[in-house]
Amino acid sequence: MDDVITLNYEVSPDDFTRAGEASSDVKSKLKQMGVNPEAVRKVAIAMYEGEINMVIHAEGGRITVEISPSEIKMVLADKGPGIPDVDLAMQAGYSTAPDDIRSLGFGAGMGLPNMKKYSDDMVIDTTVGVGTTITMRVTI
Ligand SMILES: Nc1ncnc2c1ncn2[C@@H]1O[C@H](COP(=O)(O)OP(=O)(O)OP(=O)(O)O)[C@@H](O)[C@H]1O
Ligand SMILES: [Mg+2]
Repeated sequence: MDDVITLNYEVSPDDFTRAGEASSDVKSKLKQMGVNPEAVRKVAIAMYEGEINMVIHAEGGRITVEISPSEIKMVLADKGPGIPDVDLAMQAGYSTAPDDIRSLGFGAGMGLPNMKKYSDDMVIDTTVGVGTTITMRVTI
C-alpha cells in the first residue's frame, strides 16, 4: 500500500511534564484524519502506556507510528535496561517502579497488560543491557 503516513517522536528521559505528548499528538492527528473513534481510543491508551514506560523505566527513546488504510503500527524503541522476565512484567500488578514514581501515581503494574489489551497485536523484543522494542498494531 502506498499511502502510509509515518510519524516520528523522540521521547525525552525523565521528563514527566512532557510525558504523553507523543500519544496525544497521534490521537489528535488520527481524529483529524477521521479514523474511527474506537481505534483512536485504543491507539491513544496503548501508546500512552508505552510512552510513559519509556520515560519511567528506560531513558526515553523513539516512537515511530505508521498509519495505513488498514492499521496503525506503533514501534516504541528504547535503549534502557531491558526486561529480564517478560512473562512476569506482563502480569497485572507487577511493577518495579520506585517509591518516588509511585507517589506520582504510576506503578500500578497495569501498563503492559493494557497495551496488550488495547492493541490487536503486540510483540516485545527486549535484551537486558541493550534495550526494548515494542511493536503494537491496531486494526482500523
Ligand atoms: N521500556 C521498558 N524498559 C524496561 N523495563 C520496562 C519497560 N516497560 C516496562 N518495564 C518493566 O515492566 C514492569 C511492568 O510494566 P507496567 O507498565 O505494566 O507497570 P508499571 O509501569 O510499573 O506501572 P503502571 O504502568 O501501572 O504505572 C515495569 O515495572 C518495569 O519493570
Ligand atoms: Mg507502565
